[in-house]
Parts: sequence; C-alpha cells; structure tokens
Amino acid sequence: MSEQGFRILGLAASLRRTSLNRGLLRAAREASPEDVVYDGFDLGRMPFFNADVEAEGDPEPVAEFKQKIQAADAVLIASPEYDYAVPGVLVTALDWALRPPTPLRHKPVGIIGASPGASGTARSQMILRQILLHAPAYVMPEPQILVGSARQRFDEEGNLADEEGNLADEETRERLERFVIALREWSRRMQSSVEIRER
Ligand code: FNR
Repeated sequence: MSEQGFRILGLAASLRRTSLNRGLLRAAREASPEDVVYDGFDLGRMPFFNADVEAEGDPEPVAEFKQKIQAADAVLIASPEYDYAVPGVLVTALDWALRPPTPLRHKPVGIIGASPGASGTARSQMILRQILLHAPAYVMPEPQILVGSARQRFDEEGNLADEEGNLADEETRERLERFVIALREWSRRMQSSVEIRER
C-alpha cells in the first residue's frame, strides 16, 4: 500500500450507460473505506488485439491501460455474463494486458458481477478466474459477490433508458464493503508473500 492509500483500478466490463455492473462498481466505490482510492479505465477504448500492431509498439490506450494496472495495488472487475462467458470487451483488454511481460503477474484481483437472472454471473466469474491464471494474477477466492435478480436491487432509474441506476439494496451494499476490505487485506498478504519469495 502506498502513501496515497490502497489503490484500486476499477473496471466495468459493460459499455452500457445504464449497466448494472457499472452501478455495482460505483456502489463498491461508495461503500469503500476512506483509505481506498480508485482509478478507472474505459474498456471501450481498447482496439482488438493484433500482433502486427503490437510488434510496432502498444497503441496509446493499451500503454495507458497497462500502466494503470501496474500502478494499482489491486484490480476490481465488475463484469456481466455474456453467452455463459466473459464479454468480448473484457477479453480484448485482457488479450493485450496478459501479453508478457504482463502487469497482471502476481496482481491481486477481485471479481464482482450482477445479472438480471438467478446466476449472478457465476459462470463468467469461473471463466474469468481461468483466464487470469495465464498471468498468473491472484484472484481473491472469497468472499464472492454474485448479485442475481439485480434489477430488483437497483433503484428505478436503473430501469429507465438513459439514467444510471443506483444500488438500493442495503444488504448488497454491506457485502460490497466487506468485499473491498477483504480485498485490501488479502492483497497486502499476497504482496508480502511475493516479496518473501523474490528475496
Ligand atoms: C446477456 N445476458 C446474459 N445473462 C446471463 O445471466 N447469462 C448469459 O450468458 C447472458 N448472455 C448475454 C449475452 C449478451 C450478448 C447480452 C447483451 C446479455 C443478460 C445480461 O446478464 C444482462 O443484459 C445484463 O444486464 C448485462 O450487464 P450490464 O450491461 O447491465 O452490466
């Protein structure tokens, strides 16, 4: 942890303005202790991965994305489930970021997700854990945040076409607070174990 506090790079893997997952990430940020500071990155800026382009040097959004991962103490990903898997916008960003030397190596990562259905992104979270093993990043095993029936847990603005919805469910808000505190503590332990191993 730096003098600026515990730095989280928060990523929403949905480009939708009224995204439930964007709202979930915002709620996690609001529920976080004061020493937790957030940075963000718009995944919609990332080009598709192309090794010919990479050979000429990382495009500007890719370089910025990697630098933000490097600077963060942990990455927090709020992702929907698409087709029982992970949205392409997130896979594209990870294609770039997981290329060696990857800034995700030994990086603590927290995964949260919301879906209107019952599964609360269970399948996409499992697949995302598997993708991140490539680094390997250290994905926190528990607690887990799987928000099912999510539309009912956001205020009615979340159901309007052009407004962002806010999390209205107090129990989910408390779980998010505990999740972020657990991520902070777990990241510290992971960081010290890496330092000991690399001595
Ligand atoms: C979905 N959705 C979805 N939901 C789910 O539980 N399992 C799935 O496999 C899928 N697949 C899927 C594919 C595509 C292309 C779309 C657009 C949607 C529904 C999805 O959970 C719902 O639209 C969420 O609201 C998307 O998250 P955001 O944008 O609200 O954060």
